[in-house]
Amino acid sequence: MEQLAIFGGTPIRKEPLFYGRQYIDDADINAVVNVLRSDYLTCGPKISELEAKLCQITGAKYAVAVSNGTAALHIAAMAAEIGEGDEVITSPITFAASANCTLYCGGKPVFADIDPETYNIDPADMERKITPATKAVVAVDFTGQAVAHKEIEDLCKKHHLIFIEDAAHAIGTKYEGKPIGSLADMTCFSFHPVKTVTSGEGGAVTTNDENLYKKLVLYRSHGITRDMAQMKNPSDNPWYNEQVTLGYNYRLTDIQAALLISQLDKLPAFSKRRSELVDFYNKAFSDLPEIIIQKELPQSDTTRHLYILQLDPDKVTCTRREFFDAMAAEGIHCQVHYLPVYRHSYYEKELGYPKGLCPNAETLYERILSIPLFYKLSDQDAQDVSDAVHKVIAYYRK
Ligand SMILES: Cc1ncc(COP(=O)(O)O)c(C=O)c1O
Repeated sequence: MEQLAIFGGTPIRKEPLFYGRQYIDDADINAVVNVLRSDYLTCGPKISELEAKLCQITGAKYAVAVSNGTAALHIAAMAAEIGEGDEVITSPITFAASANCTLYCGGKPVFADIDPETYNIDPADMERKITPATKAVVAVDFTGQAVAHKEIEDLCKKHHLIFIEDAAHAIGTKYEGKPIGSLADMTCFSFHPVKTVTSGEGGAVTTNDENLYKKLVLYRSHGITRDMAQMKNPSDNPWYNEQVTLGYNYRLTDIQAALLISQLDKLPAFSKRRSELVDFYNKAFSDLPEIIIQKELPQSDTTRHLYILQLDPDKVTCTRREFFDAMAAEGIHCQVHYLPVYRHSYYEKELGYPKGLCPNAETLYERILSIPLFYKLSDQDAQDVSDAVHKVIAYYRK
């Protein structure tokens, strides 16, 4: 058996590979430079152009571009009128922002467990967690795979809940042929550089509801409006604008919008390459019973953001940490997505969430790691990842 690099063997790669990386081409750079030479660096024409493009891609009627995905979730929670005494159900296997948006509004995040095969929120547990105080759900398309829309929509209708979809991972994904972004009451996107398309930092909320749209626009920019119909003290003075509610400065710049428009032109190519890599990995690991692969629902036509390996502890002698370190020594730098949100010390110690709340999520967290998946990952890179996984598993096989 080949000696592992961590014990002095030759590493599979000299150049390290990381789990995610943006792809920026000359068209992206030119788009940014053109804005820098133009009259508007912010609040200019690129914002409405971007919003129109997001509507076209998602099929939503309205899009509101914001400064990041967390801001998108915050204004969505505000538009849903989450406040003190309200409960909002979300998944524990997500980035903290999916739950923090409820805290920002004074509400209480309630965690429903995940489906142990798809890793997305389990609608049956979601239903068990519904109380008279439940006002909304924040369902996360984890790794890019669409949540169980039909079941969640049915629950939301039955219990009069607002359906906020956290699609930070899922731009480009479709559910039963319909693009994510047009299905929930509000859908929130992130355009951080590890995501499929990026604006450096950036986010957006899409919705089909005009009323929600108007609120989102207000909350994005201080609660200030120029629309006389929304003013309490209307004035036809041309300079007049009025703060009618409390909002934030969550605006995206035109520089970022131009970059994102150019990135979105490449979304079909990005999606295709990510799918090819997922297919390659699925095949490459099919001969390893030690590795469990995320189950894909047939309803989800996924633009995959993350590729996750789950180690079967009954079949390997190593811990997840030993596997992670051995992969790093081979030149493959993995990441772990995610510590269940309520296990963060803030949630545990300040807010009093107990350990053991969502057993499937806690079990999954102990076993998983994310391997490299990004547009420019070459066939050779993917082969190196597969070789490293096979090498490490061969060493630690029970
Ligand atoms: C599932 C999920 N929700 C929300 C966010 C927040 O997005 P941002 O980093 O753009 O604020 C992220 C970002 O990592 C995320 O992965």
